[in-house]
Amino acid sequence: MKILTADTLQRCEQYSHTDATGITCSLFQAPREFFARNADPRVLSPFHEVAAEGFGMPLDHKSLEGVKRHVSDDFLSLAHRGSELLGFASLICLPHEDTVHLHGIVMASEVQGLGIGLALANALLKQTTSAWLSFTTQNPCMFVLGRKLTRLIFPTPETPRIPSNIRPIGNAVFSKLCPNDTLDQSTFVSRGFYGSCLYQALPRSRDGAVNRWFDETLSAKDGTSTDAFLFLGVRT
Ligand SMILES: CC(C)(COP(=O)(O)OP(=O)(O)OC[C@H]1O[C@@H](n2cnc3c(N)ncnc32)[C@H](O)[C@@H]1OP(=O)(O)O)[C@@H](O)C(=O)NCCC(=O)NCCS
Repeated sequence: MKILTADTLQRCEQYSHTDATGITCSLFQAPREFFARNADPRVLSPFHEVAAEGFGMPLDHKSLEGVKRHVSDDFLSLAHRGSELLGFASLICLPHEDTVHLHGIVMASEVQGLGIGLALANALLKQTTSAWLSFTTQNPCMFVLGRKLTRLIFPTPETPRIPSNIRPIGNAVFSKLCPNDTLDQSTFVSRGFYGSCLYQALPRSRDGAVNRWFDETLSAKDGTSTDAFLFLGVRT
């Protein structure tokens, strides 16, 4: 069971409550400081389990260090039913780039597709006022989610080429966060961004055109890829 420790629950400040399902969205107080000083393995364990399950990978294929990096951000929101963790999302602030970067977001498989990821992302974004939102992904569901969080997003299946005035902004964000990787300026695709595909097979959204665009652009073979998109959106 993905049970949050009492210490973790104490840091949760209720953000919204969905009565029908009993799922609470909470904002986590000072995550960077909390995860830096808390060495109890029971603290990270529910996050590790949700991440592995949400990505459809065995636990030993999801690095605990990677999970720790993704929760130790500027902002963290959690979805939980009582003390059972169901999902989480984290945000990095890049004030110099006037951007917030959605760093990690994952929902347990049983609650994917119910709009809870959107609620978690909105809880984070309400804490900030930057002009831009960015994220990297190889999951079409993330693009569909990002489209709801922004009034304009680059690239899209309809506009796969990045306009020249947008390129320097994406480039600045990407080189700050991923200095060892390369980004194609005209498509915002990073080839070989991940050492291995994050999923057994790239997930499917409910938008077939988006799924096909991901498969083609990320050169999916047998449903997998190591490439990723950077998305950059103008916040609503
Ligand atoms: C990506 C993710 C965080 C989105 O959270 P969520 O709570 O599922 O988000 P939403 O319910 O708002 O769904 C967003 C879109 O994803 C698609 N989607 C999500 N779950 C789906 C499912 N089980 N079946 C089909 N489509 C699904 C839908 O197209 C949906 O939009 P729509 O309802 O308007 O069609 C979640 O699906 C997840 O944890 N995926 C695995 C981990 C991952 O890839 N994280 C992102 C790494 S960058």
